[in-house]
Amino acid sequence: MFDGKGIPHDVPDGALSALVDAGEARSELRSVAVAHAAGKRWILVGGGSRDEFDGERARLVAAAALGRARELGARSLCWELPHKVPDAVAGAIVEGTLLAAYRYADFKSDPGEDRAPAELIVSAHHDVARAVELGRVGAEAANRARDLMNAPPNAMTPEALAEHARALPGVAVEVMGRAEIEAAGMGAFAAVAQGSVNEPRLITARYDPPGAAGPLVGIVGKAVTFDSGGYSIKPAARMHEMKFDMGGGAAALEATGAIAALGLPIRLLTVVGATENLVSGGAVRPGDIVRSRAGITIEVNNTDAEGRLVLADCLTHARDEGAERLIDLATLTGGVVSAFGNVHAALMGNDDAWCDAVRAAGEATGERVWRMPLDPAYDELIKGRYGDLINSSEGRKAQSITAASLLARFAGDVPWAHLDIAGVADGLGKPYAQKGASGWGVRLLVELARELAGEPDPG
Ligand code: BES
Ligand code: MN
Ligand code: ZN
Repeated sequence: MFDGKGIPHDVPDGALSALVDAGEARSELRSVAVAHAAGKRWILVGGGSRDEFDGERARLVAAAALGRARELGARSLCWELPHKVPDAVAGAIVEGTLLAAYRYADFKSDPGEDRAPAELIVSAHHDVARAVELGRVGAEAANRARDLMNAPPNAMTPEALAEHARALPGVAVEVMGRAEIEAAGMGAFAAVAQGSVNEPRLITARYDPPGAAGPLVGIVGKAVTFDSGGYSIKPAARMHEMKFDMGGGAAALEATGAIAALGLPIRLLTVVGATENLVSGGAVRPGDIVRSRAGITIEVNNTDAEGRLVLADCLTHARDEGAERLIDLATLTGGVVSAFGNVHAALMGNDDAWCDAVRAAGEATGERVWRMPLDPAYDELIKGRYGDLINSSEGRKAQSITAASLLARFAGDVPWAHLDIAGVADGLGKPYAQKGASGWGVRLLVELARELAGEPDPG
C-alpha cells in the first residue's frame, strides 16, 4: 500500500522508486501501479490520505489490488502490510481481498477460468494472526451467504436452506415443517407459506459454548426464498430479484456459523423463517385475518407485506426459547431503498444502548446503518379495523417504520433492534461487492458478537 510518503518497507526500492518518480504510483485512493522486481510483480495501491484511512478504505484498496492480480493471472497474492498496521486494518485487508475474489458460477455449464489468486499470504511486522483469522472467517461466511442468496429460487427452497443450516459446524439445529408451524399456532407464518407446495421451514440454531456468559442473543432472519408478492402481486420486470428476499436469513445463519468457528464466548439462538410467498388456489387472500402465536390477530390487507408476518412468529418463537436480546435482519420494505439507496440499512429498535451497539458494529465493518424513529403515532397507521392489526398501512404510508412498529409488538419488552436490509442485500455497488448478493450483515453480526464477548477492540 502506498501513501505517497516513500516506498513501503521490504519492497525492492529501485524499480518502485522509478514508478514513483515517473508519477505512475500515486497515493490517490485505489490508484494502481505495477512493477517487476526480484522475480515478482509488485502491485502498489494508493491508500489516499493517511488521516482518512480506515477499515473501509482498506477493503477498497484490497479490492483494487485483487482486481489487478486477477487481470495479471497471479496465482498467489501476498500482502506486505505497513509497519504498525492496526489490527482492524489488517483484518479489513483480508476481508476486502476475499470479498472481491468472490464469484458465483454454480449454474454455468462452462464456469470458465477463475482468475482470482488461489493463495493469499499476509506478511506483517507484528503478530496479526487473530486479526487475519477474524477477517478470513467473517469474509468467507459472507461469501457463503452470497452463495445461498445467488442460488436460484428453484434450488434454494426453504428445505435447501434448512439442509444448509443443519450442516453448520459447532451449531445445534432444529427444524420445524408446515405441520409443526401450524400446530405451534404460528398462523401468521403459516399464512404466507400456504400458497406453496414447497413446505416452509422454521430453522432454530443454537450456539452455546462452555464458559459463555452474558445474555442469550436472539438473531432472527427473514428467509423468503422467493417473494412473488402473492395475490398483491409484484410487477413482472424485477420479480426475479426476489430470490434475494432470503438475505436476512442467509446472513443470520452464516454469522452464527462464523461466531461458532471463532469460538466467541457468547450464547446465540438464531431463528430463521424460510418460506416462499406464491400465488395458488390455496394462497392467503387480501382480507384474510390470521392469528399469530402471540395471540395478536392481523388482517392481511396486502399479501406482499409478508416478511413481517413471518418475522412476527419468529420473534415470538425466539422469546419463547429464552432470547434476552433480539436483532432481526430482513429485506423488508422497498421504502428503505427509496430512503437510503444502497448506502445505509435502516435500524429501528426499542432500546437505545442495544441500537448503539448495532450501529457501532456497522461503522466498524463498513455495513453502515441509520436509525429511523418508532413512535406511537406510527402505531396508529397499522391499527386493525376487523382484526388487531393490518399488515400494511393505507397508501403505504411510512412503510419501513410501520413494518418495524408491527414487529415491535412481537418483540415486546426484550431489547430489540431491527435492520431493514432491502437496499443493501444485493447490488451493493461496492468494489468488493458490486452486483448480485452482498452477504450484508454477516460481518456486522460477527463484530457485534465480538464486542459482546469483550474481545479487545482492534486498534
Ligand atoms: N421483499 C419485499 C421488500 C423488498 C423490496 C426487498 C425491494 C428488496 C427490494 C417485501 O416483502 C415487500 O414486498 N414489501 C412491500 C411492503 C408494502 C406492501 C407495504 C414493498 O416494499 O412494497
Ligand atoms: Mn413482499
Ligand atoms: Zn418480501
